[in-house]
Amino acid sequence: MDDKEKILIIDDELIPRYSIQQVLKDRYSVFTAAGGAEGLDFMAHNHADLVVLDIRMPDMDGITVLKEIKKRFPDTEVVLLTAYASLESARSAVRFGALDYLIKPFDKSDVINVVERGLQKKRVQISIKSEREKLLDKTKYLECQVNKAREKMMMYDEGTVNALILAIDAKDHYTSDHSGNVARLSYLIAEILGLPKEECNKLRQAGIIHDIGKIGIDEAILRKKGPLTKEEFIEMKKHSEIGARIVNAVPFMGDTAQIIYYHHERFDGTGYPEGLKEEEIPVPARIVAIADAVDSMMHDRPYRARLPVDEILTELKVCSGTQFDPVIVDAILKSKKLLK
Ligand SMILES: [Fe+2]
Repeated sequence: MDDKEKILIIDDELIPRYSIQQVLKDRYSVFTAAGGAEGLDFMAHNHADLVVLDIRMPDMDGITVLKEIKKRFPDTEVVLLTAYASLESARSAVRFGALDYLIKPFDKSDVINVVERGLQKKRVQISIKSEREKLLDKTKYLECQVNKAREKMMMYDEGTVNALILAIDAKDHYTSDHSGNVARLSYLIAEILGLPKEECNKLRQAGIIHDIGKIGIDEAILRKKGPLTKEEFIEMKKHSEIGARIVNAVPFMGDTAQIIYYHHERFDGTGYPEGLKEEEIPVPARIVAIADAVDSMMHDRPYRARLPVDEILTELKVCSGTQFDPVIVDAILKSKKLLK
C-alpha cells in the first residue's frame, strides 16, 4: 500500500498543474483535477492531505472551493496558487483557512517549501490529536477507577456507620432511636437551607452518630431518670469529644468527626466543649444542634413531657440567637417543612 502523503492539484491550466506534479511526484502521491467541481468530486471519494488550489478558475473560483474544502474536509491543508493580479484575494483567503499561497510563476524550491510546511503542520496536528485521544482514554480509565474506589469507600463508610449504630444501640436504646430522628431532621434542615445533596447526606450520617461518644459514658449516668449532678454533667459532656475521637479514627470521616465534636456548641458561646460562638461554629454542627434539640422536645424525657409542635416552634424562636443560629431558625420557620 502506498503510504506517501497525498497531494491534489486543482488548476484549470495544464502547464502549472503539470509542472507542480513533476516537482512533487517523487516525494508524494500526486493527483490532479482540471477544475473546482472535479477536485471536490475527487475528494469526496479519496483522501487528500494537502490541496494546491488555483484561485482563478472558470467553473468555480478558488475561494469558493477553499470554503467548501474547509467545510467538508477540515483536516486537509490548502495552498493557493495566485498570479500577482489576485494577490490580495489570496492574502485574504488565509482567513478562510488557507495555509499559504504560491505566486505564479514559482520555482521548484518554492513549491517544495510551501507543500512541506503544510504537511508538517498537518503531521503535528495528527500527533497532537493522537496524544489527546490517548490522554482522553487515560482520563476515562482514571475516572472509572476513581468511581470504583468511591463506591467502595461509600460501602465502607456505610458499614462503619452501621457498626457504630449497633454499638450505641447495645449501650442505650433511647440514644439509638433519637439518633435516627436527628439524622432525618438534620437532612431536612440541610435541604431547607438549599445545601448540595452531598452535604445533606453528610449531615444525615453525622446525625446518626452524633452521640456515638455516649458509649464511653457510664451507663448509670446515661440511664439516670432524674437530673444529673454537676459531676455527672461534666462526665456526660465528654461524649462529644469521645465521639469525635472514635469517628476521627475512621478513614474519610474527618468532616463528620468535626460535626460531632461541636454539636453542643451554642450560638452565643455558652456551649461546650470549646465555647465557640456564632460563625466560629461549623455550619453543619449548628444544624445538628438544632435537630438534636427539636427531636428532644418532640419526645418525653425523664425531666419533662414532650412538647406540641407550636410550642417547639415558639421555643426555636425564643432561643434564636442564643442557643441556635438565627439564620437557620428563620429558614426553618419560613419553610414550615420541618414539623408538619
Ligand atoms: Fe449529644
